[in-house]
Amino acid sequence: MEAQTLSVTNFFSVLHSSTQYVRPMPPSLVETRRGHDYKGQERKGARHKFAKCDAPDAEARSDVMAEPDQNGKIFVGQSTKPEFLDLRFGNRHGLVAGATGTGKTVTLQVLAEGFSRAGVPVFAADIKGDLSGIAAPGEPKEAFVQRAKAMGLDYQPDEFPVVFWDLFGEQGHPIRATVFEMGPLLLSRMLDLNDVQEGVVNIAFRVADDDPELKRAGADVKAGALVDLKDLRELLSYVGKESKDIGSRYGNVAVPSIGAVQRQLLVLENQGGTQFFGQPALDINDFMKTDRDGRGVINILAADRLMENPRLYATFLLWLISEMFEQLPEVGDPEKPKLVFFFDEAHLLFNDAPKALLDKIEQVVRLIRSKGVGVYFVTQNPLDVPEKVLAQLGNRVQHALRAFTPRDQKAVKAAADTFRPNPQLDAAKAITELGKGEALVSFLEGNGVPSPVARAMIRPPSARVGPITAEERRKIIAGSRLRGKYDHAVDPESAYEILQRRIQSRAAEQEEAPPPEQPSSGGLGGVLGDIFGGRQQGRRSGRMSTTEVVVKQVARSVAATVGSQLGRALIRGVLGSLGGKR
Ligand SMILES: Nc1ncnc2c1ncn2[C@@H]1O[C@H](COP(=O)(O)OP(=O)(O)OP(=O)(O)O)[C@@H](O)[C@H]1O
Ligand SMILES: [Mg+2]
Repeated sequence: MEAQTLSVTNFFSVLHSSTQYVRPMPPSLVETRRGHDYKGQERKGARHKFAKCDAPDAEARSDVMAEPDQNGKIFVGQSTKPEFLDLRFGNRHGLVAGATGTGKTVTLQVLAEGFSRAGVPVFAADIKGDLSGIAAPGEPKEAFVQRAKAMGLDYQPDEFPVVFWDLFGEQGHPIRATVFEMGPLLLSRMLDLNDVQEGVVNIAFRVADDDPELKRAGADVKAGALVDLKDLRELLSYVGKESKDIGSRYGNVAVPSIGAVQRQLLVLENQGGTQFFGQPALDINDFMKTDRDGRGVINILAADRLMENPRLYATFLLWLISEMFEQLPEVGDPEKPKLVFFFDEAHLLFNDAPKALLDKIEQVVRLIRSKGVGVYFVTQNPLDVPEKVLAQLGNRVQHALRAFTPRDQKAVKAAADTFRPNPQLDAAKAITELGKGEALVSFLEGNGVPSPVARAMIRPPSARVGPITAEERRKIIAGSRLRGKYDHAVDPESAYEILQRRIQSRAAEQEEAPPPEQPSSGGLGGVLGDIFGGRQQGRRSGRMSTTEVVVKQVARSVAATVGSQLGRALIRGVLGSLGGKR
């Protein structure tokens, strides 16, 4: 091995020779909190008062060992020097990469703990359930104690304020969005629609937007009448029935495609979409909380089941970023981020994504920075992330990569090349040699330039590594400040009810004064049957059923009252036009 490259052995000797971080912790800095007793041990104190680190001379002090985050900086690990993530650049995004089992999730946990300690709320998807341990105090395992000691740290167990979320409402508070909020373009991606089918969904949103009665509806003004999937179904049926009139206003409605969209909706429903779409919808502000101690709340999304449907997972997270982007104010360059978002299994976001979508992701990642939101991608291979996005990730932790095949070797080289070189270190060589919990790191410093790549031992987290038990989770959920707010879905009056009633009342009117035409054999059931049964055959030659007459009249009256304003659904923010095909 090259002289400059630190092996694990000489790495530790370097650590031990460093005196800066080995002074014992003064008792005055110890604060006992929450009274946890670790297997009968006397607890000395879980953490230090952060205020101590806020002293102007904090950087110069060496008495911050047990919790060595410094003023405005998160201690991430130790190379030949301590490695910090500067909170001023926390919104300049980041990357945690590495082969399986190399320490990505633990690094994610270390960063999340650091942000929380600094009062920055965090959102992270928990793919394997092993991030949930952050809610429970760590155990002073020998390996952790030794690792801490080698960095001059006094291992102190700690736990963090966590809010659990779950799209399926089982392992946390349910997260819901309305169909309207999701918007036509993300929905189309979620449903894996082709261009023509996407066009149908776009038109349906326009129809809902321009219909005064639908617009007024809904408990949530923002959502209007498009709340859940049955609203969308009903609306699509309506569009199908009224394709001629609607088509003349909004462009050709591809009627056979409506059936295809309905079938895709069914798939989504079976995958849990029924629970996801509805009200009360998520209020982004509930992610942005701090606890009584001023620590940022760590929002953990149970993603194990969600991962069975990667498209739902990816679209959901994209939606979340887009909501943040749309709702949060501009903050420029804050002292610390407003929220940090960890995107595990990040390759799913980019896999098979059309170019238009990739462009938008790149754009959002770039723009969301000024809202004070940091996005950290966690993935096995840095090549999973498109170059334009990768170029924006200022804070990097690269764990070991294997280099068995030429493709592996290419990834190693690419990963090494994305770092600012360090003449002391052969990055490509080091990547293949890194041990568990060891990484090449580079963080933005000074005026926002990346530090030269360094080979660092990542600190052990303070909270538990590994999952919490179902019982622990249950207790945390039961004690959550958000308990009751999202737990029960409400079903407000929306498109489903309104359109059904509209059709029924028109049908009743028609019965009082029957038209000369043959009476309908279908009525409401006919309309729905046509759609749900896939019998969307278009009109019978020249003759209309009562229902068709009714629906057509309704559509005319609607058309007469609609304004020419551009639909709200279509002028959503930057991600609202995701994948937009114009
Ligand atoms: N910084 C660290 N301090 C102490 N132990 C660590 C550290 N990083 C990793 N480890 C050890 O390595 C194990 C594997 O790490 P981790 O689960 O983070 O890997 P991973 O890269 O997320 O793997 P996967 O791709 O399978 O999810 C951990 O359970 C822990 O025991
Ligand atoms: Mg992991």
